[in-house]
Amino acid sequence: MLPTAKCSSGVQMLTLLLEIIKMKGMRFCGLFYAVLYGYLVLFAVAEITDPSEVSALVAVVSRLIDPMNYLGNWNKGDPCLSKWTGVLCFDTIDETDGHLHVQDLHLLNMNLSGSLAPELGQLSRLRILDFMWNNLTGSIPKEIGNLSSLVLLLLNGNRLSGSLPEELGKLSNLNRLQVDENNISGTIPKSFANLTSVRHFHLNNNSIAGQLPPELSNLPRLLHLLVDNNKLTGYLPPEYSELPTLHILQLDNNNFSGTEIPATYGNFSSLSKLSLRHCSLQGAVPDLSRIPGLYYLDLSGNQLTGPIPSNKLSDDMTTIDLSENSLNGSIPASFSDLPSLQRLSLDNNFLDGSIPASIWQNMSLSSSARLSLDLRNNNFSSVLGDLDPPNNVTLRLAGNPICTSANIPNIDQFCDSEAVDNETITKSNNSECPIHACPTDSFYEYVPESGDLCTCAAPLRVGYRLKSPSFSYFDPYANLFEAYVTNSLNISIYQLSVDSIAWEKGPRLRMYLKLFPHANSSTFNTSEVQRIRDIFTSWRFPGDELFGPYELLNFTLLGPYASINPETQRTGISKGVLAAILVAAIASAVVISAAVTFLMTRRHARNQRSLSRRRMSTKVSMKIDGVKGFKFKELASATDNFNRSTQVGQGGYGKVYKGILSDNTVVAIKRAEEGSLQGQKEFLTEIKLLSRLHHRNLVSLLGYCDEEEEQMLVYEFMPNGTLRDWLSENETYIQVNVARESGLMFSIIDNRMGSYPSECIERFVALALNCCHDKTEQRPSMSDVVRELETVLKMMPETDATFSESTSMHSGSKSTSAPASSSFMTRDQYFSSYVSGSDLVSDAIPIIPPR
Ligand SMILES: *[C@@H]1O[C@H](CO)[C@@H](O)[C@H](O)[C@H]1NC(C)=O
Ligand SMILES: *[C@@H]1O[C@H](CO)[C@@H](O)[C@H](O)[C@H]1NC(C)=O
Ligand SMILES: *[C@@H]1O[C@H](CO)[C@@H](O)[C@H](O)[C@H]1NC(C)=O
Ligand SMILES: *[C@@H]1O[C@H](CO)[C@@H](O)[C@H](O)[C@H]1NC(C)=O
Ligand SMILES: *[C@@H]1O[C@H](CO)[C@@H](O)[C@H](O)[C@H]1NC(C)=O
Ligand SMILES: *[C@@H]1O[C@H](CO)[C@@H](O)[C@H](O)[C@H]1NC(C)=O
Ligand SMILES: *[C@@H]1O[C@H](CO)[C@@H](O)[C@H](O)[C@H]1NC(C)=O
Ligand SMILES: *[C@@H]1O[C@H](CO)[C@@H](O)[C@H](O)[C@H]1NC(C)=O
Ligand SMILES: *[C@@H]1O[C@H](CO)[C@@H](O)[C@H](O)[C@H]1NC(C)=O
Ligand SMILES: *[C@@H]1O[C@H](CO)[C@@H](O)[C@H](O)[C@H]1NC(C)=O
Ligand SMILES: *[C@@H]1O[C@H](CO)[C@@H](O)[C@H](O)[C@H]1NC(C)=O
Ligand SMILES: *[C@@H]1O[C@H](CO)[C@@H](O)[C@H](O)[C@H]1NC(C)=O
Repeated sequence: MLPTAKCSSGVQMLTLLLEIIKMKGMRFCGLFYAVLYGYLVLFAVAEITDPSEVSALVAVVSRLIDPMNYLGNWNKGDPCLSKWTGVLCFDTIDETDGHLHVQDLHLLNMNLSGSLAPELGQLSRLRILDFMWNNLTGSIPKEIGNLSSLVLLLLNGNRLSGSLPEELGKLSNLNRLQVDENNISGTIPKSFANLTSVRHFHLNNNSIAGQLPPELSNLPRLLHLLVDNNKLTGYLPPEYSELPTLHILQLDNNNFSGTEIPATYGNFSSLSKLSLRHCSLQGAVPDLSRIPGLYYLDLSGNQLTGPIPSNKLSDDMTTIDLSENSLNGSIPASFSDLPSLQRLSLDNNFLDGSIPASIWQNMSLSSSARLSLDLRNNNFSSVLGDLDPPNNVTLRLAGNPICTSANIPNIDQFCDSEAVDNETITKSNNSECPIHACPTDSFYEYVPESGDLCTCAAPLRVGYRLKSPSFSYFDPYANLFEAYVTNSLNISIYQLSVDSIAWEKGPRLRMYLKLFPHANSSTFNTSEVQRIRDIFTSWRFPGDELFGPYELLNFTLLGPYASINPETQRTGISKGVLAAILVAAIASAVVISAAVTFLMTRRHARNQRSLSRRRMSTKVSMKIDGVKGFKFKELASATDNFNRSTQVGQGGYGKVYKGILSDNTVVAIKRAEEGSLQGQKEFLTEIKLLSRLHHRNLVSLLGYCDEEEEQMLVYEFMPNGTLRDWLSENETYIQVNVARESGLMFSIIDNRMGSYPSECIERFVALALNCCHDKTEQRPSMSDVVRELETVLKMMPETDATFSESTSMHSGSKSTSAPASSSFMTRDQYFSSYVSGSDLVSDAIPIIPPR
């Protein structure tokens, strides 16, 4: 039996530990008590996060491939308390169910592949689901539609396929749906019209086909509709012009073959950007002059015909791109009256007439302003005014008759220039500062704004991309942008450096931001890092029609920040919660230890039941120091006759009640059920053993009741106040948790027991945890456990051993070698007896065998 017996659950390991403690008395206890205590807490708090959410997370991680092992801690402890990477929980326990719930999943940019588990739908309180910039495949589970609290659904930048589930339309609190840059096919479900809270629809760069549902025009809050680079067909719904809040409508690279842009699009009240590039549109350019805040218009690459409407567009216009169409007529005079214009692209049309020099002459160029005029491949034959644009103006005229008319001086410079002035900015180092004065690793840099003070600091580095900016040159808006970002982050303007920018296809603007700490410190503290990251990752930047939506590409924590758990945000669970958890943990520990003791005795009891029952009538009275014999009546009245409302726990052995004794002592009463009753002798033996368990961290046994076919144990109940006080004095709970997470279990060992080699403790903890392996086959056998414990003991310093050869190793254990056992035994004769005798139940030794 012994060599093959497996420990069948964590409880079994506890049994073993408890047994060891009992046998060894106080001499060796400190170590085991401490470990056991930590173990009990961990074991107990495993129940703190809603169990269905824990199983959902386990299912989620089982579907993921995690080459960088970012989610390595997703099998240890409790998701909320052990702070599983990327899991953010509400910081208060739900009053109604007594659990913590998962609030956000932040798994941004972790190089994950695999697929999304349908069990995500069980994270019922989830508000943010963020898997951006990974390598996920498979489809979007329809169960996500069950997450009625979901605010942000961020799946962009993966390789997801399949269609958008109809069920997502149920997400009535959804603010942001980002599934762009995947390979989603199918159509946009009509049910999305029910997403009445949605502000951001980012579906660009997928394979979405079919008709844009006209029903989306009912969305009262929609700000950004980005569906560019898909396979949409059909018509452009005229109803969209009634979207009351829409800022950006971007439908580039679709195929609305044969349709016209509805004239009603001129009625959009708050549109700032309309982009319908490469959409196979026909008909005329609509009159958009009634849209007051339009910044950006791109209708390039279509088959639009007729003249350009002559009414004046908004003063905010930065960009007009009507290139690659079949427009005729001339350049409207109103184009000379757009003070913010940065880009006017009319190339590849059939425009004619003369080019009005007033377009650039009327511009009041600020120092950073630029204007790019692309008029190539049209029929322009003359310039109205002088052809002398300032340096800030790029004019391109190739492919027009004007280039062949010999009477215009300097025309060549405008007719053969192929160079495109792509805007890029790369900040140079603070050149006033000595080259090597900053720490030589690359984490520290001179703060750009520190001037000749040459302050060194470690910046936070953020990869950031404007998805759909409403301008063509960033520089004139750089100051506005810096103010926008620093205001959103609530930092000072000198703390931000836009390190580099680069335009990408789209056009999108990729940036690299560096955020520097306050002037008088060289690093951010952890909470500040978390606060800033929180703002970036939960899109708490205010919407801005000029800068449009952004993508967070990375938020890299290097050097001094490297130890901050990647993509996990808040660290602290509030003290109150911690206290509550600890109360729960201790309560569970009571329950567990109760369960343990009964489990230990049950088998034995079964064998002896009939005998014991008979013996029951002949009361053996027994006096145990410090343990009181209670009358059934006393305990019944303490618990209002075992009223359900006083029940605080339930185990296989029976129920646990909270009771108030006549002297107002609050106690936990464990009451065995019929079937869990044990022989009286065993029961009393157990009580005797339990009564020897005294440790400041363990609840102690106060008494028992053994009458009227009842067996009850009475433990001290941990009242809230005391615990709170205790908690604020020492942070044992945190230590245990931290110790476990960081593999430094020995750091929690009670100092008063003296020092033990850390290797012993590590092996011991490893053994304990091994016994809790999910798969029973993988747990060590009892004989392995015993052997390992012996090895651990052998490693103890010799001086610490008290030799006594009073007992010898029982021959029943084939696996223990003689030398090992002898040094093992020197520690405690009971222990060795237990080891050998245990399941074989040597009659001579009055102990209770573990199962
Ligand atoms: C991501 O994983 C791939 C292999 O799956 C590996 O080649 C690549 O280096 C990883 N990249 C990062 C940034 O971890
Ligand atoms: C994504 O997965 C594909 C195929 O599994 C692999 O070739 C590629 O390297 C992965 N990319 C990243 C960024 O991990
Ligand atoms: C979750 O979603 C699935 C499929 O959409 C549905 O069958 C199931 O009933 C939902 N569960 C709950 C609890 O709403
Ligand atoms: C995207 O999905 C389509 C089928 O829907 C498939 O034919 C295509 O190869 C996929 N593209 C990529 C890049 O995976
Ligand atoms: C929107 O929700 C209502 C009620 O919840 C439902 O009756 C309707 O069918 C939904 N609309 C669509 C288009 O799914
Ligand atoms: C989006 O798709 C277009 C067309 O397939 C492609 O040119 C562009 O690079 C893509 N953009 C991104 C950011 O993937
Ligand atoms: C657009 O659709 C039409 C038919 O609807 C088709 O003939 C044409 O080839 C498509 N164009 C592109 C670029 O896919
Ligand atoms: C919308 O635009 C159309 C055509 O431009 C016009 O006839 C109609 O009056 C406009 N509607 C509103 C509500 O402004
Ligand atoms: C512009 O083109 C349309 C057809 O595309 C034609 O009817 C119209 O006469 C043209 N106007 C001019 C001024 O060429
Ligand atoms: C733009 O013009 C301003 C003066 O109006 C000048 O200071 C600045 O250098 C010019 N920029 C470029 C790129 O030519
Ligand atoms: C983060 O993004 C920036 C800007 O796109 C890029 O330059 C940098 O290499 C990225 N860093 C990492 C670690 O991916
Ligand atoms: C300018 O940017 C475009 C993409 O927007 C790119 O295709 C092109 O190569 C760039 N040109 C130069 C000179 O960098």
